[in-house]
This record gives sequence, structure tokens and C-alpha cells, in this order.
Amino acid sequence: MAAPTKESSNFTGRIKEMFDFIAPQYDLLNKVNSFGMDRLWRKELVRRVAAEQPGLVLDLAAGTGDVSIALAKKLPGATVVAADLSQKMLFHALYKALNEDLTEQVKIAVVDATDLPYEDNTFDAVTCAFGVRNFANIPKGFSEMHRVLKPGGICAILELCPPEPGLLNSLYQIHAQAVIPTMARLFGSDISAYDYLGDSIEEAPNRAVMEYLMQQAGFKNTYYREFFPGVCVLYIGYKGRFEDELERNKLHFIKLLAQDLEG
Ligand SMILES: C[S@@+](CC[C@H](N)C(=O)[O-])C[C@H]1O[C@@H](n2cnc3c(N)ncnc32)[C@H](O)[C@@H]1O
Repeated sequence: MAAPTKESSNFTGRIKEMFDFIAPQYDLLNKVNSFGMDRLWRKELVRRVAAEQPGLVLDLAAGTGDVSIALAKKLPGATVVAADLSQKMLFHALYKALNEDLTEQVKIAVVDATDLPYEDNTFDAVTCAFGVRNFANIPKGFSEMHRVLKPGGICAILELCPPEPGLLNSLYQIHAQAVIPTMARLFGSDISAYDYLGDSIEEAPNRAVMEYLMQQAGFKNTYYREFFPGVCVLYIGYKGRFEDELERNKLHFIKLLAQDLEG
């Protein structure tokens, strides 16, 4: 299978096909390739979101469901919608939810994150772990997240990107170009999918650009936190409350009025 590129026609369809194909080995290869750190990164996202006590969470690009399941466990009263393009990835999420007796709390949905079938202002929190860089149109994805989030709601994104230039970056390049494809071969997975993984991390928007794109989509109070060894970043943003927006517009209006008076 040839690796998808954003220039290829039907990029989203190709991404779905690729994740359907690697679904059986996804969890294991993830652990091996990240030296088990992926669990800690997701745990931090879950801790941050759970602190806001959301009642209804949309976990986009939920894949095999680790974030959705962890959120449901941490928030016993909450409902988590585990949403993804790939039915085969979601099949593993459903299996985990059944095993953990969480099917009342974790709801499975086959959706494209860049074209969500939900009303405006529906969810208390939106999460997305390692999904954004696979979106055909990242600004559209952020804008959909912002649209379906309730005012005051939190958006938490985990994403990979290469470490800043230096020793860690050189080690990372060896890991991405030699270790990851070798592991994929050893575990009998689709090598091109893991070539794509390396390329997509390389091409992912850097930290400042991701934060800027979130702000452009309307998110407020954005910030990000990088995890050791600099390949994984947690981005946080909030949907402004109606009163905050009103206050902001009022201040803007007063500034314009003052400029007018001065002029
Ligand atoms: C690297 S996996 C991450 C899975 C999971 N969140 C995790 O933490 O392991 C990326 C997932 O994003 C999904 N995905 C990619 N593009 C998507 C889109 N436009 N809409 C919904 N899901 C998408 C893929 O199907 C895949 O399951």
C-alpha cells in the first residue's frame, strides 16, 4: 500500500484505509515505538481534562480508544463519544469498553473530524490524541472542534512533532527513519503506513503554528506543554464564554470610541 500524501486525491479515504489496515498491531507498535511513553502522555491529557469535570466529552480520532476509556474511568458520571474515521480502529475501542464494562459511558461514532455531525455548543470537552496531523484540513478540524464545544469548554490536543534542532532531534531522526520501519516489518504491519507516520510527524505544524491555528479557530487562553524528550506536545484551549466575548467587544468598542474622540 503506497503511503498517503496530502496532495493525493481522497487523502481522508486513504488515511481511513491505512488505519483500518494497521488496527490489529496499532496498540503494540505504539508502545514499542514510544518506549511506553504514549501512556504517560495520554494520562496527562486525561488528568488535565478531568480537572474540568466535563459531563459530555467528544474524543476525536479516538482510534483504539485509550483516551476515551481512560476519561470514562476517571469521570464515572460522564459520557464519552469515541469518534473516528476507521471502523476497524473503533472496533478495538468497543472491545476495550466491553471488557471494562463501560459501554454505557463510551459511545462509538464513525465520523470525519473535519465535518462533524453535531450541533453547535454540544460538548463540555473535546479531545484529540495523535489525530490532528492526519486531518486533510487542520484549520477546518480546529474550527469544527470549536463549533461543537460549549462556551467555557476545554479542548485538549496531543500531537507529535520533531524535537527542536540538536542532539535529541538527531536521535529522533534515527528512531523515525530506522527503528520505526524495522519494528513495523518485524510485527508484520504495513511498512508504508509507518513511513507515513514518520513523514507526517516531520510535516506536522510546529508548536507555535499549532497554537496559532487554534487561536485562529477562536480558542482562547491557549497554551502548550512539551513532554520529554520533546516529541509530544499537549495543546490546551478554551471556547470563550458569552460574557467574555461581550466584555471583549465592549472594550474594543470603547477603544474605537476613544480613538475617534482623540482624532
Ligand atoms: C495515530 S491514531 C491515534 C488514535 C488514538 N487517539 C490514540 O491516542 O492512540 C490516529 C487516528 O486518527 C484517525 N483519523 C485520522 N483522520 C481523521 C479524521 N479526519 N476524522 C476522524 N478520525 C481521523 C485515524 O483513523 C486513527 O484512528
